[in-house]
Amino acid sequence: MQTLRDLPALRAAVDALKSDGKPLTLVPTMGALHDGHMALVEEARRRGRHVVVSIFVNPRQFGPNEDLDAYPRREAKDAQMLAAAGVDILWIPPVNVMYPAGYATNISVSGISDGLDGAARPGHFDGVSTVVTKLFNQVRPDVAIFGEKDYQQLAVIRRFVADLDLSVEIIGMPTQRAEDGLALSSRNAYLSEEERKAALALPRALGEAKRQIEKGEPVEGALAKAIATLAAHGFDPVDYVSLCDAATLAPMTVLDRPARLLGAARLGKTRLIDNIAVDPA
Ligand code: PAF
Repeated sequence: MQTLRDLPALRAAVDALKSDGKPLTLVPTMGALHDGHMALVEEARRRGRHVVVSIFVNPRQFGPNEDLDAYPRREAKDAQMLAAAGVDILWIPPVNVMYPAGYATNISVSGISDGLDGAARPGHFDGVSTVVTKLFNQVRPDVAIFGEKDYQQLAVIRRFVADLDLSVEIIGMPTQRAEDGLALSSRNAYLSEEERKAALALPRALGEAKRQIEKGEPVEGALAKAIATLAAHGFDPVDYVSLCDAATLAPMTVLDRPARLLGAARLGKTRLIDNIAVDPA
């Protein structure tokens, strides 16, 4: 595995890889890799002959009072895991390579970025859209793979890839969970032992709301119950528990088409998100 930190070296290495005409798959990450990331890498290995993984803790997607400085960084361990998984290139650009002095461009997706995490974390999806566009231009992948845990992020990326005519296929992979059901996330490392137990209330509350809604109970009541359950387990604030159209993320009050139930809430200093499919059939 080549570990690269400057653009000319990346471009030359990508050209060399692509010279055999085989497809190249990118897995963008912010590092602190866990089994969820490694499942994306495995899928990339299965689909594409060549695999590039990027690690970049993107300052533009963190708000002023968020956890940019505290975000876990474990480059040596990440590199070991990726090399063992057969990754061809690890792309780790420093901040001044990604955003050199004078950098002034922003990619902003309206509509689908506005609600849910877009409302709770103003500017977050501009930061994600900008860095992912740059990663696509730097690595020039044929395929890019993202986890469905960040469901809105995946929908925003699909939107700008279509809108900007980018020639990259976007693949979403199901959320990987711990045995007890908690969605894997680099931020789970912040949880104390007690918080880790309480955190299970998030997937359980979403699961219970899904069951109620699929049984035909009123959506509003099921969402309110889920919010109350989270509050009772110490989540504060609960940013949202919302039923949305699975493709557009428009809020839904009646289950009349494929939907997604999404939740985000803070437990101590850790903000957790999760989502599940809700099936009208
Ligand atoms: O999901 C993430 O890890 C990040 O938001 C991403 C897509 C790598 C962009 O920084």
